[in-house]
This record gives sequence, structure tokens and C-alpha cells, in this order.
Amino acid sequence: MTSFALPSLHLALDLGAVLLLALGLKGLSKVRTARGANGLAAVALALAVLGLLLEQGLTGWAWMLLGLVVGGGAGALVAYRVPMTSMPEVVALFNGCGGMSSLLVALGAAALPAAGSRAPLDRLELVSVVVSVLVGAITFSGSLVAMAKLQEWLATPGWTQRPARHAVNLALAAAALACGLAWPMGWLAAPLALAGLTAASLLLGIGLTLPIGGADMPVVISLLNSYSGVAAAAAGFVVGSQLLIVAGAMVGAAGLILTQVMCTAMNRSLPSVLFGGALGASGSGGGSPAGGGDGSYSSITSCSPEECALALEAAERVVFVPGYGLAVAQAQHSLKELARLLETAGIEVAYAIHPVAGRMPGHMNVLLAEADVPYEQLIEMEAINPDFPRTDVVIVLGANDVVNPDAKTDPASPLYGMPVLEVDQARSVFVVKRSLGAGYSGIRNGLFELPHTSMVFGDAKAVLQQLTTELRSLGVGKVPAAAGR
Ligand code: TAP
Repeated sequence: MTSFALPSLHLALDLGAVLLLALGLKGLSKVRTARGANGLAAVALALAVLGLLLEQGLTGWAWMLLGLVVGGGAGALVAYRVPMTSMPEVVALFNGCGGMSSLLVALGAAALPAAGSRAPLDRLELVSVVVSVLVGAITFSGSLVAMAKLQEWLATPGWTQRPARHAVNLALAAAALACGLAWPMGWLAAPLALAGLTAASLLLGIGLTLPIGGADMPVVISLLNSYSGVAAAAAGFVVGSQLLIVAGAMVGAAGLILTQVMCTAMNRSLPSVLFGGALGASGSGGGSPAGGGDGSYSSITSCSPEECALALEAAERVVFVPGYGLAVAQAQHSLKELARLLETAGIEVAYAIHPVAGRMPGHMNVLLAEADVPYEQLIEMEAINPDFPRTDVVIVLGANDVVNPDAKTDPASPLYGMPVLEVDQARSVFVVKRSLGAGYSGIRNGLFELPHTSMVFGDAKAVLQQLTTELRSLGVGKVPAAAGR
């Protein structure tokens, strides 16, 4: 009875986990359902671990509990200690951890037959070990490079833009495949072949990610996400876990879809991102001012928050454009307060969301959801662009690359061709940022020099608070909307 009941229970838990994970992934595609979906996915993983504990019996419990305590403890610590602004880097790091897990599982499975702990691997398992090590190692080292670039610890070295890098990457890929073939064929001693496969794949991950920078980073991040799913699915074949195969395949497919969405958002093809070099004048991916940061502007108009408040008071329709700087300033609550004040005065308010604003997919949606901004006011780029000509005031808050009109008008701009929020079409534009410094892609922004653009220099949160104070002192929001307009 027990021998029948336990495997059934374990399979039922696996099935439940797969279903919840699928529902979780689906729910994550909408802001309204994303929080609950995240909970569903967490329950799915808990069920998966429980199923594994039941399957393995008492012998495996100690190791798995140790893993749970160490991994769960590290995860909880990160969740509590890491500020919201560093979430993109943490996501990249966690992605890398997924790749490393698949790599270690595969290497462990490859070592066990020699130690006499399991039967020799069959052909499918041999191929799966090689794929898992190859893709897992690329994901691990690539994600670490991506994290370092997001954290601005690492710039894109100029030499990585030379065409010779393709030859180096090809040589690394060939070396990895040769070692991957030499291991099952017995051409090399197993430890040597597996070490060679791991080392070449790790270097390949660096070689593929290091040259990509600037505005192309969103594509790389979502692609690495997809790789981590592929590596996990391959690890599933290695350890014979249907759950891991299905979950890995779902993550891999979701990552690919996201990659496609990001490519469309950037108007780039995947091959041009992977083989075309850094998109951005400096290619630094770290907001370096090369190509037009401070000092390369000739006619800049700046104004105080008081003047900006006067324009807001007179407006009928206002659009806020959030960008990475809003997240840095943690100004989402101050923004919501200002928006509420304007709405009380009968002014129409909307938020323009660019798909790659911020540093991770959905960054601005998450940020504004934290301040309970109504979802229906978050308007995607394609929907809001036609509305800018009828917008009185646009307030750009810590956004830069995603509002750069050179992407439409200047064929020499590295951003040329990337769809942007067409804020230059609005009647007045106020750009709130601390300096004339460049955005992530490191290039100048023609928007700052337009005659109807005014720079409001300062930290986004401080400026928003000043705007709210100023509007209150002007009596905005005190008069009933119907009487005020
Ligand atoms: P960016 O172009 O990076 O510009 C952000 C601006 O925020 C900077 O120019 C900075 O100017 C300003 N800023 C920083 N701290 C601020 C503060 N406390 N208060 C006010 N302003 C502040 O941002 P974006 O327009 O959101 O574009 C995103 C860029 O990141 C794109 O190039 C995109 O390709 C890239 N990227 C996106 C992702 C994803 S998945 N979304 C991932 C990696 C890279 P000052 O220093 O002058 O204040």
C-alpha cells in the first residue's frame, strides 16, 4: 500500500506543481494578476520540493533540507536587504544561479557512474549532460557579466567590438563541442574532457555577453533567461525528472517570447544584437557620457519647479514618462501624490510606458504598481504615441534613451530605428533629471535642445515634492473640479 501510495502522491504533487507553474507564468503577463501569479509559482516550487522529498525517502532528506535552509536563507536575506533599485542585477544573478545549478547537477550525474553510485549513462543522458553543462555554463558566466554591466561595475571594452571576436567565440564553441564529444567517445579522460567543456563554455558565455552593451542589454537579459530554462530542461533529462523538463521548457519558451518582445521594442533582430556589437556610442552600457553627455549641448533651457508647476496648473492633459531615474530616486509615491492632486483639479493624467524603460522587463509597471497607480492609466508606447500632439505637458522623470527623438530623425544616432516615446510632439516638455548626463546607452539626447523642452535639474523625488508643494500653494486641488475648469 505504501509503495503504491507514495509514488502516486509524488506524481500528483509534480502534476500540481506543473499546473500551478503554468498558471503562474500566464498570470505574470498582466500587471493586475502578477502578484498572485508570483505566489502561485512559489507554491508550485514548494510542491516540487515536497514531491522530491517524498520520492527520495529518508536518505535524501538531510541534504535537501540543508539545501533548502542555505538556498532559502540566502534568498530571504537578498529579498530583505537588496533595495528595489538593485532588483535588475539580482534577477540577473539569480538567472546565473539557475545556470550554475544545471551545470553542477549535470557534472554530478556525469561523475556518479565512475564512483559506482549509478548505472552508466545512456545516450540521451550523455547528450543531456553535455547540453546542460554547455548552456548552464554560458548562462552562469553570461549572467554574471550582465549583472556587472547593470551594476555599472563593468563597461564594454573597445577591443570586444573588433570583428576578431567572432573568430574567438567560434574557436571557444568548437573547443566546447570537441570536449563534449571527446567525453562520451572516450578520446580524453572524463575529468579532463568535462573540465575542458566547462571552461570553454564559461569563456564562451563571457565572450558572447561582453561585447553587447548599451540599449541592447534588455535583449541579452531575456535571452539568458531563456538559456537558464533550456539548461534546466536538459538537467531534467539527466536526472530523469519530468517536472524539471516541463518547468525548464516553460521558462525557456517564456524567455524566448520575451526576447522576441524586446527585439521588437528595440526594432532589432536577434542576430544583429548577438553579432552586431554594442548599440550605443560608447557601448559602455553604463551611462557614460561619451557621444554627447555633459558639455556637448549648445542651447539648453532650464527652469525651476515653480515655473513647471505653473505649466501644470494651466494644463488640461498631463503625461508622465517614468524612466530608470524614477526608480533610482524611489519617487513613485511622490509621483502618485502629484498625479492625485492634478486629478482633483480635473486635469487628465496618464503614464507613458516604454517596454525597455528602466533596467528589467516591466520595471516601470512594477515601480508604479508599488505606489498603487491605477493600471488603466499606464499606457503602452504604441497606444500613447498618437496622443502626444494633444498633450499639454509631458513630464519626463529620470527617462532618457526611451524619449530620445534622434532615434527617429538622426541616421547617425546609434539608437536610430529604435521606437521611442514621441514626447517631442507634446506642447511642452519638462525633463526632470540631475544633470545633462547620458542615459544607459551613453549618447546625447536631442530632446534636451528642443525649443519647447525645459530641463528641471534635480533629484526626481525632490522635484516632484516641490511641484506638489507649489501647486498646493497655488490652490490647485482645493477648488472643486467642475468649478475650477
Ligand atoms: P536611461 O536612458 O538609462 O536614463 C536614466 C536617466 O535617469 C539618466 O539620464 C539619469 O540622468 C537620470 N537619473 C538617475 N538618477 C536620477 C534621480 N535620482 N533623479 C532624476 N533623474 C535621475 O533610462 P531609460 O530612459 O529608462 O532607458 C532605459 C535604458 O536602459 C535603455 O537604454 C535600455 O535599453 C537600457 N536597459 C534596459 C533594460 C530593461 S530590460 N528595461 C535592461 C538593461 C538596459 P542624471 O544622471 O542626469 O540624473
